[in-house]
Order: sequence, then C-alpha cells, then structure tokens
Amino acid sequence: MRSSALDRVDALALLRELAGLSHAALLAHPEAALDEASLRALEQAAARLRAGEPLAYVLGWREFWGLRLSVGPEVLVPRPETELLVEFALDRLDAEAAADVLDLGTGSGAIAIAVAHERAHARVQAVDVSAEALRIARDNARRLLAADRPGGALRWHHGDWMRALPSEDQAFDLILSNPPYVAEGDEHLPSLRFEPRLALVGSRGADDGLGDIRELVSQAAPRLRAGAWLALEHGYDQAEGVRALLRAAGLREAHSLRDLAGIERVTAARAPD
Ligand SMILES: C[S@@+](CC[C@H](N)C(=O)[O-])C[C@H]1O[C@@H](n2cnc3c(N)ncnc32)[C@H](O)[C@@H]1O
Repeated sequence: MRSSALDRVDALALLRELAGLSHAALLAHPEAALDEASLRALEQAAARLRAGEPLAYVLGWREFWGLRLSVGPEVLVPRPETELLVEFALDRLDAEAAADVLDLGTGSGAIAIAVAHERAHARVQAVDVSAEALRIARDNARRLLAADRPGGALRWHHGDWMRALPSEDQAFDLILSNPPYVAEGDEHLPSLRFEPRLALVGSRGADDGLGDIRELVSQAAPRLRAGAWLALEHGYDQAEGVRALLRAAGLREAHSLRDLAGIERVTAARAPD
C-alpha cells in the first residue's frame, strides 16, 4: 500500500533545497519556524512526490559522477548504475591522449559530460533523437566543463543513432550508449511514467526490449576503429542477448560487467585489430 508519508531522505532534500535548511541546522534548531513562502514551496513539492514524480524532477537536478546535472521531464533521470559505463570508458582512455568518443542517446548528457570532465583530451560527440534532451545536455556541458578543455567543446547531433552524424566516414575509438531497453509490456513501465517513453522503450519497440540495441549495434559496429570498443548498458536479463548481437556484428571479446547489485549491466566488445 502506498504511504502518504514522504521518504525521509526526500523530505530532508526538500528542506535543504527549498527552505535552505541543512541537516545540521535542523538538528541544531528543530524548533525554527519556516516562512510562508518556504512552506508553500515545500507543500507543492511534497504533493508532486506523493504523486510519484521523481525527486530529481522536483529539485531540477540529479548528481551523476559527482556532477550536478540539470534534469527535467524531457530526459531520463541519470542512474547510479550508468556510472559503470563511465568507469569502463575511463579505463580505456589515456589521460593525456586525444581520442574520438561517441555517446549515443545522451539524454541529459550524463555519460558524455562525465567522460569529457575526466579526460580533458577526449574529443567527445553525442547524439540524441530528442531536440529537448540535446538542449538540456548542451546547457549542462556549458555549465560543467571548462571552456578551454584541450579536446574542445562537445559536439551535439540530432537524429537517429549513427545517422545523426554529419559524416558517414568518421570512425571512433570508443562508442558508449545507455539506449532505451525496456520491453513494450514491461511491468515496471507504470512506475516510470514520469520519464520519457522514448528514453525507456525507444521507437523500435520489441518484446525483448532489444529493438533499438539491434539497430544501434548494426549501425555502430562498422564505425569502430581497429581494436576500438563499443559498450552498452542494458536490462538485467539482456546481457546474453547483447553479447550475441555484438558477436554477430563481427566484434570480439564480448563480455559483461556487473553493477554493485551483482547484475550484468554493461556489455562491451571490440573491433578486430
Ligand atoms: C535510457 S536514455 C539514456 C540517457 C542518458 N544517456 C543517461 O544515461 O542518463 C536513452 C536516450 O536515447 C535517446 N534515443 C532514443 N531513441 C533514439 C534514437 N533512435 N537515436 C538517438 N537517440 C535516441 C532518448 O531520447 C534518450 O535520451
């Protein structure tokens, strides 16, 4: 049964953000009264949370890889497990060398911005089919990345996976993606109703949730440089299917990485040398 009480962590976050009260201030002055404006803002925010809206949308931000990303209902709320994909990328990118990196389905820009933040020399490009998502990602990058990073400003492309790129010839040293992978009839979809369906199910709905991953792998595999990696996040029961798709696309060393809950969450493979 759904409780009308707010989660304690959410309530503390609201007090901190909307009333400017830190946890320490609450402990020191539990009797302190809230002003009218703060009370109204808190009541409105609490009503949105009770209706099931994610805290990140109510606050307007979510922290990812230690970076405060602006988010709204136009983009998926970045998840902690996606940091596994960032770790995979950083392990393969030299801190001092240039490399061409692509983030497919960038949403808020979470993956592209985290990689660009940690690897100043990487030339990072990102694609999304949602123009609203790209606007949010661009603003996040402008706010969070140094204007004079050696790899240059991030480049954003609007369109369908690799077809969004301006050149058919450019190849990459690393392609990353957290694509839509929720199956059409998945039982979790109702609880995710505030997030964009395009980000969750995509536009190539399939019973196994792999519709967009199939297309993305077939488009992206030929664009990897020799020995370059393609790494994808996917659902808890899709690792075997994704490994098979990567092998069928001619890639090698297909393997999956487990998240903190022990679930195979990211699968990667590389182009032949
Ligand atoms: C699961 S979200 C991931 C967002 C972000 N990378 C993250 O990890 O938080 C998938 C993203 O793929 C985008 N997308 C869906 N179909 C696409 C397509 N055919 N081409 C490009 N992007 C697409 C969605 O708009 C959404 O932003």
